[in-house]
Amino acid sequence: MIEQDHPAPQYQDGLHKKAFGKEFKWGVSTAAYQIEGAHEADGKGPSIWDDFTNTKKKVLQGLHANHTCDFYNRFPDDLDLMRSMHIPNFRFSLSWPRILPGGTGSVNQKGLDYYDRLIDNCLSRGIEPWVTLYHWDLPAALERQGGWTNRDVVQWFSEYVQLCASRYGDRVNHWMVLNEPMAFVGAGYFLGIHAPGRRNINAFLAATHHATLCQAEGGRILKQLLPQAEIGTTFSCSHIEPYRNLERDQKAARRVDALLNRLFLEPSLGLGYPFKDIPYLNRIEKFFEPGDENRMAFDFDFIGLQNYTRELVKYSFFTPFLQAKLVPAARRGVPLTVMGWEVYPEAIYHMLHRFNAYTGIKKIIITENGAAFPDTVKDGQVNDPDRVEYLQRYLRQVLRARQEGVKVEGYFVWSFSDNFEWAEGYHPRFGLVYVDFETQERIVKSSGHWFSQFLAQG
Ligand code: NOJ
Repeated sequence: MIEQDHPAPQYQDGLHKKAFGKEFKWGVSTAAYQIEGAHEADGKGPSIWDDFTNTKKKVLQGLHANHTCDFYNRFPDDLDLMRSMHIPNFRFSLSWPRILPGGTGSVNQKGLDYYDRLIDNCLSRGIEPWVTLYHWDLPAALERQGGWTNRDVVQWFSEYVQLCASRYGDRVNHWMVLNEPMAFVGAGYFLGIHAPGRRNINAFLAATHHATLCQAEGGRILKQLLPQAEIGTTFSCSHIEPYRNLERDQKAARRVDALLNRLFLEPSLGLGYPFKDIPYLNRIEKFFEPGDENRMAFDFDFIGLQNYTRELVKYSFFTPFLQAKLVPAARRGVPLTVMGWEVYPEAIYHMLHRFNAYTGIKKIIITENGAAFPDTVKDGQVNDPDRVEYLQRYLRQVLRARQEGVKVEGYFVWSFSDNFEWAEGYHPRFGLVYVDFETQERIVKSSGHWFSQFLAQG
């Protein structure tokens, strides 16, 4: 449990919760595969990430998330800690293969029961659950049938969404359909650095189209079954700028922006894919069926914006499809996080304005923002002034946008605790709470103390 009298670090004065308004939603975010562990417990089936890490050993030093934070067993204690930190909203994802071990068909009652317990334990502590349906752990059985590249995924996913909505909809009022489709489709099917590790432009295009259809279809199913609930979905985004003041860099920046920031968002708003800026994308039409233009759109109640950084883009003749490349932050002499991402608070401000300019977006929630820094334990404490400063500086930009009329109504820190950072393993620590992965001990970092005292204001 957190000690209440811990001195909060004050790196910046005057950032007050009140300025965001009473209704503003504050929370923390997580994802099933990154925190739960218990990878074979109680009838859970394998996901593509279990295969990718255990069988294919694709992650740095053969690391996996078989145990990670052991949240599956330790969630009551973690929720107690969350409550003692005054955190009112908790975003987590449901593991599809825990609920449907084979992806479709027979249901794992123990998996369903687990999320009942998790949700009930949130509610009994006054913590509001925000549920993501898909945060990257596709059942491995479905990948063997083509995974996201098979159009049947729309059927498979619909079955899963219906099951979750009918089971948990009486208690869960905030839902997100997909987490960062650009990240799981791009890294999983084009770059091959995330599960399932495929590198193929056709697989990428097919998976893009099917994820876009699932995004909208998931929204429709939730709305139909739970008309009172708030339905959203989340997008990764980076503020993009040309590296040099040259027309060819500007055009390259537009292409990268279309790919990273618009590819999945615009079809959901009824604007279709950004063909004009990426002509190569036309090839996606071979995966279309009549009526798909309409099927790709859904009127979400909120859009989850997830931002960490900005990217600078340069023209590159040799890069296939895009003729553009990112100039790594490490080569630009700017402040970096452990991920190698530039600390650039204005990025979130610009992206908020960008999203806000779409008339189809009714409300924005920052469903992820945060940073990995090299945390160490000293005398039983973790002092992380860089993270405190990062969060405060980004929050100031969120407030600035809000004061200018941007409809941003919530902010969730990534992440509650340190966890398994996908292809990077355990090295990047994003948590407000430090986790010793050997002993499973938790230590609230100074950023956690700061956030908790910030939340306790007023
Ligand atoms: C994006 C993803 O949603 C999350 O799973 C990941 O850990 C963080 N951002 C940090 O990279």
